[in-house]
Amino acid sequence: MRFQSRRIADLVQSDIRAMTQECKEQGGINLGQGICDTPPPSVLLDNLIPAVNNGYNSYTRFDGIQPLRESLAAKVKRDSGLVLDPETNFVVTSGTTGAFTCIINALSDPGDRILMFEPYYGYHMNAAVLAGLEPVFVPTRGEDFSLDVDSLEKLAKGARAIVVNTPSNPSGHVFSRQELETIAEICQRYDLLCITDEIYEYFLFDGYRHISMATIPGMWERTVTLAGFSKTFSITGWRIGYATGPDHLMLPIGIANDLYYACAPAPLQYAVARALDSLGPDFYSRLAEEHQQKRDLFCSTLARVGLTPHIPQGAYYVLADVSKLGCRSSKEAAMYILDKASIACVPGSAFFEEGRGEHLVRFCFGKDDSTLERACELLEQLK
Ligand SMILES: Cc1ncc(COP(=O)(O)O)c(C=O)c1O
Repeated sequence: MRFQSRRIADLVQSDIRAMTQECKEQGGINLGQGICDTPPPSVLLDNLIPAVNNGYNSYTRFDGIQPLRESLAAKVKRDSGLVLDPETNFVVTSGTTGAFTCIINALSDPGDRILMFEPYYGYHMNAAVLAGLEPVFVPTRGEDFSLDVDSLEKLAKGARAIVVNTPSNPSGHVFSRQELETIAEICQRYDLLCITDEIYEYFLFDGYRHISMATIPGMWERTVTLAGFSKTFSITGWRIGYATGPDHLMLPIGIANDLYYACAPAPLQYAVARALDSLGPDFYSRLAEEHQQKRDLFCSTLARVGLTPHIPQGAYYVLADVSKLGCRSSKEAAMYILDKASIACVPGSAFFEEGRGEHLVRFCFGKDDSTLERACELLEQLK
């Protein structure tokens, strides 16, 4: 097509959006896209209109309003023990997606190699390609997609950065301290920047604990952590996220954020700050418990109908083995499930290098209970 950049030419519309469209046309239940339809906390909503009425309607500082940067510093201290400076260690961004875009454009150059574990989150891969980077996919191993040290060792030399996503979308893997320490050692040996997407930090099951890479000895100076509130507060449309790390990395990220987005939406920043200050630890533990129940319900249904689930340790997605459907590709399997059971999912090929993941599809179970129960009933038709 004329006027199209070479960088975007290879990027097709993501399978996730394509399945969403197809599902709408068929009137099915969408377990494809990672949209949570559980209600946002009321303290968040209650503070939005007051924020607008109290004048939070202009551009904010490029790195976010002070109350939010302070709330974020308090949150990080509570969760990981790191004592950070709200003035210099945070950039509030237009969602975690915005943070990722700013990070890769501020801290790497076109042609650089960026490592990401497979299965990967499609936006990480596509955003890297659009920034002119060369993604290098690091295979994982076993039922739970854990770290394959040998593969990482082989691929690390010469790379500029590595993306860690824990808990992971789509695999649900939660990196253990030992795995993080191994990755950390490799980052230090090969002088890699570590970009760690921890947006699902509170979605943890079966006693798995979230550990931030930034807390691993020797990693703070080379690590940028990104996260956001789309999932924790069920506000995917608000677009509030942040990046945090040492001053020398935050400065260029802030410049990129200013250029691309000017700032994150002002009144929404304020409401998020108020919610962060008001919600106690029980809010976050309830979130984990509720999603573990959803996981258990959904995974037991998958197992019953023969779509063997890779039981996730965190986040709210499950990769299921669809070999029993006898389809030639994961796209065909996803279409079959939509036709037969009116459930949209994402073909496994969306998370792997070409030719891999064809026996898998991904379902999102971050749905309200009645939707999920109805989806389970519909899935029974695949028995
Ligand atoms: C791993 C991961 N990072 C980032 C995002 C997007 O987050 P945000 O809505 O804050 O841009 C998602 C959404 O699905 C995700 O799964």
